[in-house]
Amino acid sequence: MVKKKSSYACNACGQKAVVWGGKCSGCNAWNTMEEVVEREEPANSHRYSNWSGTKATLVDLRNAKTVTHVRWDTGLTEFNRVLGGGLVKGSVVLVGGDPGIGKSTLLMQVVGHLSPRAKTLYVSGEESPDQLRMRAERLGLGEASIQVFPETELEEILAMMDEQRPDIMVVDSIQTVFSSQLTSAPGNVAQVKECAAQLNKKAKSMGIALFLVGHVTKEGNLAGPRVLEHIVDAVLYFEGESGSAFRMVRAFKNRFGSVNELGVFAMGEKGLEEVSNPSSLFLTAHEHPVPGTCILAALEGNRPFLVEVQALVEDAPTPNPKRFAAGVDTNRLQMLLAVLNKHASVVAFDQNVYVKIVGGVRLTEPAADLPLMLAAHSSLVDRPLPKGMVAFGEVGLAGEIRPVTDALTRLKEAAKLGFTQAMVPLACKHNNLASVKGIDVTYVSRVDQAIGLLRELKAAA
Ligand code: TYD
Ligand code: MG
Repeated sequence: MVKKKSSYACNACGQKAVVWGGKCSGCNAWNTMEEVVEREEPANSHRYSNWSGTKATLVDLRNAKTVTHVRWDTGLTEFNRVLGGGLVKGSVVLVGGDPGIGKSTLLMQVVGHLSPRAKTLYVSGEESPDQLRMRAERLGLGEASIQVFPETELEEILAMMDEQRPDIMVVDSIQTVFSSQLTSAPGNVAQVKECAAQLNKKAKSMGIALFLVGHVTKEGNLAGPRVLEHIVDAVLYFEGESGSAFRMVRAFKNRFGSVNELGVFAMGEKGLEEVSNPSSLFLTAHEHPVPGTCILAALEGNRPFLVEVQALVEDAPTPNPKRFAAGVDTNRLQMLLAVLNKHASVVAFDQNVYVKIVGGVRLTEPAADLPLMLAAHSSLVDRPLPKGMVAFGEVGLAGEIRPVTDALTRLKEAAKLGFTQAMVPLACKHNNLASVKGIDVTYVSRVDQAIGLLRELKAAA
């Protein structure tokens, strides 16, 4: 007999508890525990243990098959890159992002492009076939053969997979799908986890490339994200400001490619267009150099591009100055200000500090530290940085400037775009940076040295 029980689960990480608590003991998030009423699984259930659904046998790794993955070209080079070189047959990809950012549009473009060569199935729990038709027409896919299944019940979807045997399938969105075997409401962690696991298993056993669209919570997490991350092969995430047309798709996890690979798109009248050379996109053209901006030669995945880091530092009228960061972690900013204070005697504790990355890019790499610091200092002293200068480098707590990956690629990109000076970590010197023509490289090893050198560079520029 199947017993029913009531318990609580964290909607971020799926951690279970028998009593409700304000804080999740798994991921330490607050106010994430939700009541779930679900059937207790029989003790011998091995639902998640083996995706093929067969009994596992022991394998000597030397005898395991080496597989070369069959990849589909999605029609968008930028998207192919994020996927690690195309969509792998039989892979399960989670696509997350804010509402209205373009998840459905992107996936519709992909299935539309692949439809002449592959059998496609678009399961839509959010939009009716009429609405999807309107979008398809707008995307110029009015004639594409895309099978739409407006269904949210898992069991029906699984049956349709058997019937249609698609090559490519989209489930838009996983939060709307529910299993009638569970009593909890759709979107609940238990439902999302169960439905994703079953779809994943089925897609794997049938060799279907499956996209799961995931929603984002108010805090910016995919609902039930961590539970889903384990299940799927790749997690892609849309980034971008709602006001800007640019959309970035980043790989957070990818079993078939490298992470942090970034695809850049612009939302246009006919869907998402690729931006294959985003380097100069995130730079603003200032007529004259202005205080508080610094150009970072960034590297996302394997691709270098230049972004503008902006800072505004002003006298705080209140005893608790503001620290605001868009596109970078606020804690990182706090740390940089502390390092500036301690190791370069640049005092900002009575200042409001705002920093922003132009274009809505989110920077995760530590190479942004030095530009952030230079921009903040420049705003504080109200002096622009030298014209045509880029910078990159990680800043350590001891005030040292640490090397970053692939300095040569970054420098080449800067030179290509006409930058003439660069401030880079001393430890990058052995990377043959001197071979890059047209750009003067200044090596720095300490924070105070970097700040001190700014005056000289300015004089020389
Ligand atoms: P959508 O793909 O529906 O977002 P999501 O599935 O992530 O919620 O994105 C739709 C938004 O994009 C909507 O605001 C309209 C806009 N859009 C365009 O600007 N051009 C287009 O060609 C399409 C299809 C949508
Ligand atoms: Mg949508």
